[in-house]
Order: sequence, then C-alpha cells, then structure tokens
Amino acid sequence: MLQSKHILIGITGGIAAYKICSLIRDFKKSGADVKVICSPNALNFVTKLTLQNLSQNEVYEGEFTPQNWKPEHISLSDWADIMLIAPATANTIGKIAQGIADNLLTSVACAFPKKMIIAPAMNVNMWQNESVQANIAKLVARGIECLPPEEGFLACGYSGKGRLCSLEKIYNAVDEALNYSEKLKGQKVVITAGGTIEDIDPVRYISNYSSGKMGLALAKSAQNMGADVVLITTKDFEAPFKIVKVKSAIDMQNAIKKNMKMPIILLWLLRLQIIG
Ligand SMILES: Cc1cc2nc3c(=O)[nH]c(=O)nc-3n(C[C@H](O)[C@H](O)[C@H](O)COP(=O)(O)O)c2cc1C
Repeated sequence: MLQSKHILIGITGGIAAYKICSLIRDFKKSGADVKVICSPNALNFVTKLTLQNLSQNEVYEGEFTPQNWKPEHISLSDWADIMLIAPATANTIGKIAQGIADNLLTSVACAFPKKMIIAPAMNVNMWQNESVQANIAKLVARGIECLPPEEGFLACGYSGKGRLCSLEKIYNAVDEALNYSEKLKGQKVVITAGGTIEDIDPVRYISNYSSGKMGLALAKSAQNMGADVVLITTKDFEAPFKIVKVKSAIDMQNAIKKNMKMPIILLWLLRLQIIG
C-alpha cells in the first residue's frame, strides 16, 4: 500500500521516541522509503545507529552540514510526500505553531507545504496546558492533522491523557493520507453502523452485537476517496466527517430519510447486506 511513498519522520525529544523504531519498520515493510530527522534532543532518547539501520537511510539532525548543494530543509521537504512528527513534544509543537525554525526539524516543518501529521506525547499536565492546547488548535486550523494522545499510564509516573496514540493509528493515518483518491469526489455517501437498541420497557432492551466498526471503516474509506460522508450510528465514534448518533431502528430510519433521497426498502437491503 505504501510502495515507493516517501515518508519523512520527525522525531523529537520525548520518552515515546523509542516507539517510532517499530513504526519505521512497519512503513519499510509496506514498501515505503523512510527518512528520519531528529530534533537535537531526540537523540537523547533513541540512537542514530538504530534509526539509520531501520530506515536504511542516513539520519538528519544538523542544519549546517548538508550533503549536497541544496539546503536540507528544502531538499527533504521536496523529497517527502508526507511529514509525520512523532512523538511531537510540547516544545516543537509550540515552535511550529509560531513559525519558529531554529533546527533542521522545525525548519523543514516551516518549509513543508504538503500533508503533515503530528502525534503529540507528553505529561498530562503539559498536554492540558493552555498554551499547548492553543498551539494545537493553531496547527489544526492550518490543516495539520493531529492524532491526540491517549489516556494511560505515563512514563513520568502520572496517569492520564498524554501517552502517544497507538502505532496502528499513526500508520493508518499516514496510509489514508497517502492513498487519498478522488474517485468519489462530488458523491454523498450515507452509511449506517452499529446495532440499534429497542426498548422493551425502561429497564430492558433488545439489541445485537454489531460493533459498527465495519461501517466506520467503510465511511473512512469513502471519505478517503473524496466522498462527502454521513455516518449514522448507534456508537460513540469520533471521525472527521458528519456523524449522526441514533438509538433505535426508527431513529436510524428517520436519520437516513433526512440525509438522502432513496427508496427506504433499498437502504434496508443494503444495510442487511453490509451486516451479513
Ligand atoms: C526524560 C525526559 C522525558 C521527556 N519527555 C517528554 C515528553 O514525552 N514530551 C514532551 O513534550 N517533552 C518531554 N521532555 C522535555 C523535552 O525533552 C524538552 O522540552 C526538550 O526541549 C524538547 O526538545 P525538542 O522539541 O527540540 O525535541 C522530556 C524530558 C526528559 C528529560
């Protein structure tokens, strides 16, 4: 899926830096060409030798020792199809948000006009810091995709939101961004997902085991093909397209009617086919 794609990974000085070694391997296994830039502090957490071996490329760190005539913050930016910064420290996030370019990684980020994804990881109090949140909002408003940290036990001994999101999430976000097509551009796709809940009385209900994950995956794929997606679901999903939360089959039917013009019988047949 990632054959011949050029992935530029920026690693910053956070404890989660070691996890990126596995991610580099996953990208390489999928056929991608990976180059790594380290912030000056990143190499306190992971070695250049490891990153070099896993990426099968030289690791970039200094701005003033270029290998060719073209400054690396420009040549790396030209080379990459996508830039991923993971883990992204509060410090580097702040610099990118303010347009500060004081090392190779932040200079490339400043000169990078294509798709950029950041995966922040930090102590829970750092993550909740007002300035950090304002910086994240600035980056998101600029079109940079942020994969928020997750809840869990943190290396600093705290527990809470701050842990690097799963490598699977990062991999999928990069994969989706690189395999974006416009096959469904201009089309509206309405998808239903998740088992409906039918009340028997105020305490009991009838439902089924449908997790809605298949519908969510279809919705993401449709969006990745350029469709305008509406996901009508009984589950609490978060996604970058319109989600209509419903409970019962009647709620779902009404939401479908509202969101598209198609004979309802055909929709139910499609739904049965998807669940089956
Ligand atoms: C052991 C240790 C772990 C750290 N972990 C993180 C972290 O997970 N997230 C973060 O934002 N900063 C972390 N820091 C602080 C950053 O390393 C520090 O802000 C540094 O200036 C970041 O530089 P960089 O953004 O250029 O890599 C840590 C520092 C130390 C000493």
